[in-house]
Amino acid sequence: MPDVHYRFSPAFQAPTGSAIRELFKYLSLPGMISFAGGYPPPEFFDREGLRLAAERAFAEAPLDCLQYGATEGLPVLREQLAGLMLRRGASVCADDIVVTTGSQQGLDLLIRVLLEPGQSVLVERPTYPAALQALRMAGAQVLSAATDAEGLDTDALAAQLAALPRGQVRLLYCVPTFANPTGACLPLARRLQVLALAARHDLLIIEDDPYGALRFSGAEVPSLLALSREVEGSVGRVMHLASLSKVLAPGLRVGWMVAPAAVRQRCLIAKQTVDLCTSPWAQRIAAHYLASGALQQALPVLAAGYREKCQRMLAGLEPLESLLSVSPPAGGMFIWARCRAGIDAQTLFNAAVAENLVFVPGAPFHPDQPDPSSLRLSFAAPSLEQIDRGVERLRRAFERCGIVPN
Ligand SMILES: Cc1ncc(COP(=O)(O)O)c(C=O)c1O
Repeated sequence: MPDVHYRFSPAFQAPTGSAIRELFKYLSLPGMISFAGGYPPPEFFDREGLRLAAERAFAEAPLDCLQYGATEGLPVLREQLAGLMLRRGASVCADDIVVTTGSQQGLDLLIRVLLEPGQSVLVERPTYPAALQALRMAGAQVLSAATDAEGLDTDALAAQLAALPRGQVRLLYCVPTFANPTGACLPLARRLQVLALAARHDLLIIEDDPYGALRFSGAEVPSLLALSREVEGSVGRVMHLASLSKVLAPGLRVGWMVAPAAVRQRCLIAKQTVDLCTSPWAQRIAAHYLASGALQQALPVLAAGYREKCQRMLAGLEPLESLLSVSPPAGGMFIWARCRAGIDAQTLFNAAVAENLVFVPGAPFHPDQPDPSSLRLSFAAPSLEQIDRGVERLRRAFERCGIVPN
């Protein structure tokens, strides 16, 4: 090999990869139980329904499956997605929607279109690490907003915004419904307050909502997008991202964005430089699946399944109460926990790996002010039996650290 000196763009001179993806190397170890990823479990995939949808999609329009498609997505799928949004309380039409290659792409497109390097963006503390990665690569100045068990602390946010020079913060990125990593769901009154703050301080909001359809207790709360019609000055400020990854299959890589026309048009141009279009084949499969009504039937079953898993994990963690404080979620895939025993989550993680268990230590979720005691446990992928065994391994990991529950 010749000795080539590669010159990288500033964002890639010393990039840091996703700390969660780093955990993948442990997952293939024999006997490992994972409380790490927010992955649907194998038994929740509707293989037969998806096989049928794939068969029908190809039989009906083989050339459309095989050919490039429009950058904004196939009209048949956008119609179906508008129907899904309507069922969750947001009145949008197919034209308001851009199909994206996972909601992650939607986030990346919005960041490119809306942000200049050096501009400030507010995120929840803690937040989704891949959003932090995307924001930092775009050169954003990431500021964190405090959260509590219900999500964004809106009084603190109001004070924070009031103290900053007007116009300094352009964007708020948040996961208000069953957040990653905390599982918190922002109550209605706080949602209205966030929208009012956006109007008062001229902010745009990216509402990332891959988990919203996975509610397993409590009453539905409308999305920020749906509520923006009710709060003066907030229409047009919410860019909403959603996905089929958590409710159907992440392997499809089908997500979508709802945004005002001026933003959408620019995201389309950005998308043309990334992938030209989301796989038309995958889109047709998704459209057939949604048109069959199978997702509507599956959602209550999925929610009940996640409720059972979540309750099982919470029940297993109860005897560890003196070691670990947990925040029970009303939906989604995650339980956020804090070690009480003065032990940091990374030390506990190292002991857990020795017991054949992985979870995610909380550090990568913190844009700043890391809480070393925090950790994220996902109940989504393991079976009930693995949850029981994993919790027992967690207890043994504490023991390895010299700590026993009292
Ligand atoms: C908050 C959040 N946003 C976006 C994504 C990306 O999802 P998708 O598979 O739709 O790209 C995830 C995946 O874990 C997530 O947790």
